[in-house]
Amino acid sequence: KRFLQGLGTATLVTVLGVGGGFYYYSKHELNPGPQLDFDPEKKTLVILGSGWGATSILKGLDTEDYNVVVISPRNYFLFTPLLPSVATGTLSPRSILQSTRYITRHKKRKVTVIEAEATDVDPANKIVTFSDNSGVQGQVWSTTLPYDYLVYAVGAETQTFNIPGVREYAGFMKELHDAEKMQDKFMDCIESAAFPGQSSEEQDRLLHIVVVGGGPTGVELSGELHDFLEEDLKHWYPELADKIKITLVEALPSVLPSFSRQLIEYTESTFKEAKIDILTKTMVKEIKEKSVVLAMPDKSIKEVPCGMVVWAAGNTLRKVTKDLIAKLPEQDNRRGLIVDDHLRLKGADGIFALGDCTATQYAPTAQVAAQQGNYLARILQHIAKRDHIQKQLDVLAAEGVVDAPEKKGEIESLAKQLAKWEKLRPFHYSHQGSLAYIGSEKAIADLPFFGSGNLATGGMITYYFWRSAYLSTLFSLRNRTLVATDWMKVKMFGRDVARD
Ligand code: FAD
Ligand code: NAI
Repeated sequence: KRFLQGLGTATLVTVLGVGGGFYYYSKHELNPGPQLDFDPEKKTLVILGSGWGATSILKGLDTEDYNVVVISPRNYFLFTPLLPSVATGTLSPRSILQSTRYITRHKKRKVTVIEAEATDVDPANKIVTFSDNSGVQGQVWSTTLPYDYLVYAVGAETQTFNIPGVREYAGFMKELHDAEKMQDKFMDCIESAAFPGQSSEEQDRLLHIVVVGGGPTGVELSGELHDFLEEDLKHWYPELADKIKITLVEALPSVLPSFSRQLIEYTESTFKEAKIDILTKTMVKEIKEKSVVLAMPDKSIKEVPCGMVVWAAGNTLRKVTKDLIAKLPEQDNRRGLIVDDHLRLKGADGIFALGDCTATQYAPTAQVAAQQGNYLARILQHIAKRDHIQKQLDVLAAEGVVDAPEKKGEIESLAKQLAKWEKLRPFHYSHQGSLAYIGSEKAIADLPFFGSGNLATGGMITYYFWRSAYLSTLFSLRNRTLVATDWMKVKMFGRDVARD
């Protein structure tokens, strides 16, 4: 009886808690109220991008301090760590994105969101040029905007090293549409292999998937592909499943060079068990319509037939960033924009840069970009206060009363405050560890351990840790609910093998 009473109470509390949460969510989160209008007295802050860096600033920024304009070709934030799960249908695409307006509409002062690509930044005149490069354009599709401060957070694009055939025949794993395209092409390969009369040789080709790049993106994608094969394709394509082959090609001596030796070995042995072939010290030299050309460790050249290639060979700078670098003599690093320890762009006044487009001591990760964004939100608040004090001093100077004895106290106090705001704390990165999913319900984690050394762990428990860590880092209650529901749906009904 006691047990049943306890169970009843727990159920009631859970139902009330969840119900209350959803009530609050729909009442407050889905119904943002009126916002303050733009204030001509305030400075214009333009933010380029809507990824990890830009979104983290937007979340933390007090928009009362500025007139804020966000320009990005994507009108949403994408939770990249779960992108490989979208490529195999474990998650639906919309579960890991969140509209940028969802953030900006909850801000005190209104924020303009423009879906456009910045094509030029003129640091001398403080002007951004941007264009609407989407499928539908209105009469006006390109214009300029002056800024007082610019936050440059446009990320990076996939590095191809100009290797022949990459752009024509390979797929990427960077944007949402890359994952959607990959899922479609993978199913297309399988259906074509199932076409009546297909030779066994052609089936082997069509069902050979080559992933290029043994960094975390390539490894996670290979792991997800393996899960799809084991948990779903084996049931729906029993005659073909054994022929599906995944090969991961890496130019360096091992995969995941940024992880500890122990976790590299754990990943390699897990892949071996999962029958994912890892070719290390092997460089992709060319991609053709139906094959990849490999430079093998013994320097021989081998052409391997395949149905699909996914290119995950790292990052390079976007054209707009390269153009900006070319305009600034102080910028001489081909890896990215050089910033000082307050994230101010070297050689340009009023520009801050962060994330994957910069060349810093940190790896190009979401963790770094998000912490830089948090930091910048605070710094921009300080700067707004500093600018306000400076303006008061300028007014007194314009009135010619700076030397007036009755103003001495006021001026000294303002100068003191100004000096305080001038001392801005530099950016400090706090590494929270690295996590990666490697398939077969196993994940690896390199975690800082009480400030001394690293805790390297891999396996099923780490997998649940990985899941809960990502679930809690997801952007909103909406994202968390959708991702948790997708995981549950896959457990109950499997992944979808239908093509739309
Ligand atoms: P992004 O997040 O890429 O944002 C750039 C923004 O700029 C985008 O909104 C883009 O649309 C916009 N933009 C592009 N061009 C222009 C332009 N011309 N004008 C204006 N806006 C523009 N990191 C981790 O720490 N942990 C992980 O688990 C992890 N997993 C990943 C998985 C995958 C598949 C990938 C691809 C990356 C992963 N990363 C991970 C890396 C992480 O996503 C990046 O380091 C992070 O996105 C960098 O943030 P950012 O703001 O610099 O760039
Ligand atoms: P990466 O730069 O980490 O790895 C790319 C790999 O491709 C390199 O190891 C490189 O040697 C290899 N490569 C390049 N050209 C090649 C060729 N022609 N043939 C064969 N191999 C070739 O890129 P990735 O994985 O996209 O990651 C980018 C950034 O995002 C990294 O900083 C990474 O840490 C971060 N990230 C983190 C994740 C996590 O923490 N779980 C997941 C995904 C990305």
